Amino acid sequence: MATGVIMELQRNSTNWAKVVEDIVRLEKKIFPKHESLAKSFDEELKKKNCGLLYSELDGEVAGYVMYSWPSSLYASITKLAVKENYRRQGHGEVLLKAAIQKCRIRNVHRISLHVDPSRTPATNLYKKLGFQVDDLIQGYYSPDRNAYRMYLDFDTD
Ligand SMILES: CC(C)(COP(=O)(O)OP(=O)(O)OC[C@H]1O[C@@H](n2cnc3c(N)ncnc32)[C@H](O)[C@@H]1OP(=O)(O)O)[C@@H](O)C(=O)NCCC(=O)NCCS
Repeated sequence: MATGVIMELQRNSTNWAKVVEDIVRLEKKIFPKHESLAKSFDEELKKKNCGLLYSELDGEVAGYVMYSWPSSLYASITKLAVKENYRRQGHGEVLLKAAIQKCRIRNVHRISLHVDPSRTPATNLYKKLGFQVDDLIQGYYSPDRNAYRMYLDFDTD
């Protein structure tokens, strides 16, 4: 069961540099270069309409989720990762639920995301929280790596 604290990274917060540094280190470890935001993380986060939640355990970042809301109609989950030694303890699920809630309160109609179908843990987690596969996009990440486009719709009544 996840016990870490979920925090929201705030612009100008005193721990910004340390948190970004931890996340960039994880990005480099977890994602291949073409899928990693390691080089552009700082820039991405400074964009308007972009949020980042992270869970902290023993003074370090255990996992993070990045999301954005480009319009009032839809939001995207742009990153989700948990450090290897903290996996299968519920952190990913808690982070994703928290990000969904953040998007929900903006009244968007849909949250979408892309995920490599070979990432079974992530695909299972997204399905568990109600995301459905919309399409398989050939060559999305690289010529030989495809992506599922997945979405979660909200009742807007
Ligand atoms: C995907 C990821 C974030 C899951 O984090 P986690 O903290 O280990 O996940 P949780 O413990 O919260 O598990 C929640 C659900 O995810 C799914 N899941 C997680 N790990 C799984 C695994 N190894 N095999 C199958 N399903 C898995 C299950 O549906 C699980 O629910 P259950 O416990 O009821 O079976 C983590 O595996 C990860 O960082 N993977 C590498 C990065 C990645 O693929 N990111 C997504 C693409 S952007």
